[in-house]
Amino acid sequence: MSNRDKHKSNPNSIRIFDDGQALYRAAAEEVARAGAEAIARDGKFVLLLSGGATPRRLYALLSAPPLDPSRTHLFLGDERGVRITNPQSNYRMISETLLSRVPFPPENIHRVKTDLPPDDAAMNYELELKEFFGGPPAFHLALLGMGADGHTASLFPGSDALRESERWVVATRAETPRRITLTFPALNACAEVLFLVTGAQKAPAVAAALQGPPDPDLPAQMVKPASGRVTWLLDRGAASLLKPNA
Ligand code: 6PG
Repeated sequence: MSNRDKHKSNPNSIRIFDDGQALYRAAAEEVARAGAEAIARDGKFVLLLSGGATPRRLYALLSAPPLDPSRTHLFLGDERGVRITNPQSNYRMISETLLSRVPFPPENIHRVKTDLPPDDAAMNYELELKEFFGGPPAFHLALLGMGADGHTASLFPGSDALRESERWVVATRAETPRRITLTFPALNACAEVLFLVTGAQKAPAVAAALQGPPDPDLPAQMVKPASGRVTWLLDRGAASLLKPNA
């Protein structure tokens, strides 16, 4: 069975860690592995970064090497509609934990232009993606988190954005500040997805996403890249409601 077929037959691979340090080290190894594969195959590594608090420790572990910043392009899966100096800014968090330490060429860092109004920022980001890819979106790896309500990126339960089938980037309406987020047409075009989820408060959403019935209002469950390669890195708390061998 080829590696790709293995992934198709096992759409969600799950790794559970007793402690955060082991989880984040494994995540950094996955990013480095995906980067080396991408650069060997395509000459560049197109990495989609998650926001929120969970990935902070991962970004602080990423360094050059094993990343090759000159051939690694960074995009954000979502952003809050705030200035990059605002503590809520995902770009600010990524700058503090990664960009301040690893010498990425400025042209390799693709932030959302949140100095524009949210709808314009979303359109602008979509145009930047289209210009960069020159065809369908093709991220080599997407890092995603998940909220306790099962949202991922800024795709929230009940949002019209969950049913967006054309646009790659939209601005949400229900959140304050408004969010700019990639949609499933863009997320599900990724070669592979790596979810990082920690904390017992997320255990119900993890169990629902991984072992629950299909739910069109559970965003994390709707991340289904065509390659089928979705890996969940969980701590014991987040995994605590998973049934063994389900
Ligand atoms: C964001 C993220 C979002 C995040 C989850 C989990 O902008 O907030 O992209 O999808 O991954 O909300 O957030 P925590 O890691 O802070 O729990």
